[in-house]
Amino acid sequence: MAHRIAVIGGDGIGPEVTAEAVQVVRAAGVDIDTTDFDLGGARYLRDGEILSDATLDELRGFDAILLGAVGDPGVPPGVIERGLLLKMRFELDLYVNQRPFIGTAPGHDTAHDFIVIRENTEGPYVGEGGVLRRGTPNEVATQGSVNTRLGVERCVRYAFELAAGRERQHLTLVHKTNVLQFSGDLWQRTFNEVATDFPDVATAYNHVDAACIYFVQDPQRYDVVVTDNLFGDILTDLGGAVSGGIGLASSANLNPAGTGPSMFEPVHGSAPDIVGTGKANPIAAVLSAAMMLDFLGESGAAERVRAACAAHPGTGTTREIGAQIAAQVAG
Ligand code: IPM
Ligand code: MN
Repeated sequence: MAHRIAVIGGDGIGPEVTAEAVQVVRAAGVDIDTTDFDLGGARYLRDGEILSDATLDELRGFDAILLGAVGDPGVPPGVIERGLLLKMRFELDLYVNQRPFIGTAPGHDTAHDFIVIRENTEGPYVGEGGVLRRGTPNEVATQGSVNTRLGVERCVRYAFELAAGRERQHLTLVHKTNVLQFSGDLWQRTFNEVATDFPDVATAYNHVDAACIYFVQDPQRYDVVVTDNLFGDILTDLGGAVSGGIGLASSANLNPAGTGPSMFEPVHGSAPDIVGTGKANPIAAVLSAAMMLDFLGESGAAERVRAACAAHPGTGTTREIGAQIAAQVAG
């Protein structure tokens, strides 16, 4: 039976790279039934819709969502990010953000291969806090970080399960327990307790500032990393930068409990400055589609797509790269 995929091309280069990803998935012989959703900054500017509850309910009926990129220079920052991207992450309970990094960091001659598991529904992203006396000398702004035992544990458990299935079986917790005593303690205790269920997984802990040094100077030390939402946001940009650039960085927003569809998107943004020029590298979107194939149980096809991406020199126009990878996976 065909997998039902909701495609949100979004803004800027989003539709261009997503079209290539869909083409590659079809070339890999996977039967997909796609439905396009016109959402993003451009749609918002046209009729005000960001993501209505009715559209969200429609999305719940799909097997997966493939997203290009959202963000339009004509829309104030935060409107689409919060109203569309974060709304999907929260409402569809996409509690794991999985970002793989394979490459050879600048100045290194051995490759690294690690995965960051970023908690995706809590932390400073929930919008807790507020502002008082805005614009006055007595202005007060608070922005709390919300961490629940359930939220931390399900994310940490997913990371342990992932690490247990990998060759090195190693998991590093990244946090800032020396300063964030309350949330850090909850993360560390949960991590230690879940670890007892995975005796074969070796564990480590790094403060997030030190992890930034290791990502650059010694990324080979990592196998799987688990961290909170904001630390994960920042660390995964650095992960992309040391792994061949953001043009290759893929991600999966997962609801491992299966109570709704998961969402797959490249880490890069909408890059409005290069829209329509053919300069956008579709490989990050194609690799995100490969993660979708894994999640849909099509791991053979996913492996072929990853191999074709790894073999591609990364040069050419958006459509050339997409067509060449599609030809390769079609055999
Ligand atoms: C990401 C992005 C988003 C985030 C933005 C666009 C809200 O930077 O997916 O990493 O902060 O999570
Ligand atoms: Mn980010």
